Order: sequence, then structure tokens, then C-alpha cells
Amino acid sequence: MSALFTPLKIKDVTLRNRLGMGPMCQYSSINGLAQPWHMTHIGARAVGGAGLIIAEATAISPEGRITPGCAGLWNDAQVEALIPINAFAKSQGAVIGVQIGHAGRKASAARPWEGGAHLDDNEGGWPTVSPTDAAFDIDGTRLHKAPRAMSLDDIAAVQADFVACAKRALDAGYELLEIHGAHGYLLHSFFTPLINSRTDQYGGDFDGRSRMMSETVEAVRAVWPERLPLAVRLSVTDWVDGGLTIEHNIALAKVLRDLGVDMVDCSGGGATPDARGSVGTRTADQVGLAAQMRAETGLTTAAVGCITTATQAEEIVASGQADIALMARQFLRDPFAAMHFAQELGADAKSQVSIPVGHFVA
Ligand SMILES: Cc1cc2nc3c(=O)[nH]c(=O)nc-3n(C[C@H](O)[C@H](O)[C@H](O)COP(=O)(O)O)c2cc1C
Repeated sequence: MSALFTPLKIKDVTLRNRLGMGPMCQYSSINGLAQPWHMTHIGARAVGGAGLIIAEATAISPEGRITPGCAGLWNDAQVEALIPINAFAKSQGAVIGVQIGHAGRKASAARPWEGGAHLDDNEGGWPTVSPTDAAFDIDGTRLHKAPRAMSLDDIAAVQADFVACAKRALDAGYELLEIHGAHGYLLHSFFTPLINSRTDQYGGDFDGRSRMMSETVEAVRAVWPERLPLAVRLSVTDWVDGGLTIEHNIALAKVLRDLGVDMVDCSGGGATPDARGSVGTRTADQVGLAAQMRAETGLTTAAVGCITTATQAEEIVASGQADIALMARQFLRDPFAAMHFAQELGADAKSQVSIPVGHFVA
């Protein structure tokens, strides 16, 4: 009996299996609006049997986008465009979630296939914000833009944007909401001492640096229905000396758990140019940290990072290292990864995928 293909209930939501697709920016939105691409991208993975699909980093405001092609949920037209996509994913048996976030000082960048460097304001970019006015790149070549250090009013406005975005996510039909607290984007940049050198109540010690994250989570939980799961993605280590460690993140996760977070999605890195990146991180390292997080917080835990095979995903779940194995790039390669994994593990593949596929080939 496969552990990976055993359903998982989180609050009132039940995943048909424990193999999920991690959030992946598609850089294919227009003014934050979903396109036919998104129906295909999400729809194919729903048809192919993914238990959970977490839609890409979706900006709470235009300035919060990483690139001009990033998804957004700051207006009602964006909600309308997402409704049929999410309804379809759900109709095919997937649980559809979304990651909402603000890119902070890493916003206003070109799409990766256009080089990924900061866009100046006269090249389609926009001014950025961060806990301080320090730019991401010390050598000034890639993400060189100096952000504006956020005022208390700026902080309150961003928190209000998170709340408005969470309400729109509900209207759009998402069943799981993930707050992006990783990869050097705004919330992570408040928490990590590598970036946050503020001296007010949003900086300094653990309580100060975690305040932005915990206040945001608390405000979002107040509008996100109790029956639906709330997740947070954390960089559970900064992968840099002097940065956040798993211990700091376990302490944060306990605070967030007590504020109503149900699940922690354990990623890593991204705060500074010398940090190991969030993509291509060795599985054993990051999954081990997820296991530690799960053991010490009791939270539903997702592991991610270089998971590509059925045996790897099965082992992660069966050994109790994580409740959910999330894959990003493997789902790009193979939208039918869940069907293929079920077949390999001897699980009932037919019951995982959509009928017109399952009847003929599962
Ligand atoms: C094209 C692409 C886009 C990504 N976009 C996001 C994103 O929107 N939010 C996020 O938290 N991580 C993002 N990531 C990171 C993945 O979710 C994942 O954590 C990482 O790729 C490691 O998993 P993998 O080895 O299975 O690809 C992205 C990765 C890729 C390859």
C-alpha cells in the first residue's frame, strides 16, 4: 500500500494523494490576468492526478509582482479570469491552492528568459520597497535597484493588501491559501537578519523581525475561512552564515501555528546573492529540514527540492519526513507524473486521473 497515494485531510479539504505541484511563476500573465496558458498549465496537472496544485506566486498589488508577467489578485477582473480555471481543476479531483505574496526588493525584474535583471522605471519597471533601502545585489549588476525603506504606513498598506488578496482568492475558488514567506521576498526579508536592520518595532530581535509575518498571518487568518487550510512557505534556512537557521524557523512556525497556520511548506534560500538558490537544492538537505520542522511543530508539512522519482516521493511520505511531497520542475516535465508514479508504485492509477485518460492508459 502506497503512503504517497493515501488521501490526506487538512481541515475540510481532502487531497486524493500526497503528491503536489509546488508554486511556479509562469511569467505569462497580462496585467496580472490569467490567460489560456494558465488553464492549460493548471488543468493538465489536475487531469494528470496531482493531489494538490499550488498556483504560482500571485501578487497582492502591482508593485508586489516579481516581473511584469507575474500573476496578480488585486482586482476583480483577475478573480473572474481565475474562476473557470479553478473550477476545472476542482472538477478533475485536484485541490487547488494559491501562493500570495509581495516580492519586496526583488520586484520589478525582467522575466528569467529575458535575463531576469531589474527593470528600470523607464523600461517597464517600478519602484520597490523593503524593510531597508539596501539593494539585493551588492555588485549592482542584476537586482541592483535600491528599494524604499518601508514606513509604518507602507507596512499597514501591504498588510491590508494581503487581506484583500486573501478574500479575492476565496472568491476565485481556491481551497488552500499559501502565504509566501520565503526566497528573499518581502515577508522573508523582514524576518531575516541578513536584510532587516530596522530599529523600530519591525526589526531587531526575533519578535521584531517576525512581527510583519505574524501580523500578516493573523490578519489573513481572520478572513480566510477556518474550514480551509492556511499554509506558509518559509525558507527554513538562509543557507548563509549569520542568516536564519532551521531553529529560527521552527520558532517562527510555532508562533504562526498558534495564529492558525495549518501547514508549512519547507523551501530555502533566496535572501542574498551568496545564498544557495531555492531551485536545485539537494533533496536530502531540504527534506531533512522539513522532517525536523514536522517533528518539532506537529504542523502538516510539505517537502520540496529535487524530488523527481516515485520512490523518492514515496519514501519521504512513508518515512514521515513530510506529509506532502511537492514537485515543481518534475511536474513541468511530466504533467502526468502522478499517474506514472502510481503505476510504478502499484497504486490504483486509474482512480487518480481524469476519466478519458484513466480509462485508456492508466
Ligand atoms: C519556473 C519556476 C518557477 C518558480 N516559481 C516559484 C514561485 O512562484 N513561488 C515559490 O515559492 N517558488 C517558486 N519556484 C520554486 C519551486 O516551487 C520549488 O521550490 C523549486 O523549484 C524546487 O523544487 P523542484 O526541484 O521540484 O523544482 C519556482 C521554480 C521554478 C523552476
